[in-house]
Amino acid sequence: MSAFQLTRTLAPDAAAADLRADVLHGLTRTPKELPPKWFYDARGSELFDEITRLPEYYPTRAEREILVARAPGIAAATGARTLVELGSGSSEKTRFLIDALLPGLTAYVPVDVSESALTGAAEALLADRPGLRVHALVADFTRGIELPDTPGPRLVAFLGGTIGNLLPQERRSFLASVRAMTAPGDAFLLGTDLVKDEATLVAAYDDEAGVTAEFNKNVLAVIDRELDADADPGDFEHVARWDPEREWIEMRLRARHALTVKIPALDLVVPFAAGEEVRTEVSAKFRQEGVRAELADAGFELVRWWTDEEGRFALSLATAR
Ligand code: AVJ
Repeated sequence: MSAFQLTRTLAPDAAAADLRADVLHGLTRTPKELPPKWFYDARGSELFDEITRLPEYYPTRAEREILVARAPGIAAATGARTLVELGSGSSEKTRFLIDALLPGLTAYVPVDVSESALTGAAEALLADRPGLRVHALVADFTRGIELPDTPGPRLVAFLGGTIGNLLPQERRSFLASVRAMTAPGDAFLLGTDLVKDEATLVAAYDDEAGVTAEFNKNVLAVIDRELDADADPGDFEHVARWDPEREWIEMRLRARHALTVKIPALDLVVPFAAGEEVRTEVSAKFRQEGVRAELADAGFELVRWWTDEEGRFALSLATAR
């Protein structure tokens, strides 16, 4: 039996239909918005990788620091035989967790919308871990997923601070769906970026080299390619702004002048006033009390809270009640 298995729960054309619906809805409402998940085509994923290496973008390095230090503790506390990772991408940081959980670990279940990311990550992991079985799931974790029948206890991991890209109501239903994947005694490992001074936060989303600006504008390239639209990235300016009330960063694209974007696939012409903005991402920042409360709401008890040395990013370990 092969150590690698892949299950598709997304119809191959589901993404195309979702993109059409999101663009139609988001660009015909006021204020305009587009969901951040459309950044991540091949080029966008490459740009995101580049972001994680920028001097200003600390979350990836901070989370890796915590994982390296705490993986043995996480393994001891959970005794997990199945590790589920939501939005696993390249699984780059997860190897620390996997290596700490082996040899008790029976199955690693990475869940991602990108089949190529899943097969690439599995190949790399399996190359030097003979005892590991990978059961990859091509699925949209915001939709509620059905996990393969692998032995418990389960540890579900959601790393990178990606929970911050969900709006509060989306976060509630997401956490409820994670709770539904777990049984009492199972564990949930959550990465969250933390509230800190505005200058550090804004710099992380508006870097000197302009990589985040290019990443932000990549959503226009996706719409142009997939929906045959004529948006010109040069007509838009990258904006990153801290909202102190809601404690989140917003990325926006601001029209440099009045213009229209034609989207033939949707039979749509979208007018922009000069200076009009499209919100393309929310990246919420957290505090321990907020994380504890949101987890409790969903039926999890926060049992460990670890930060990096500088207190910039946190990993929470929670157990299902
Ligand atoms: C790692 C997906 C959560 O919000 O910090 C990076 C995405 N956006 N720079 C984040 C992102 C702009 C990132 N996530």
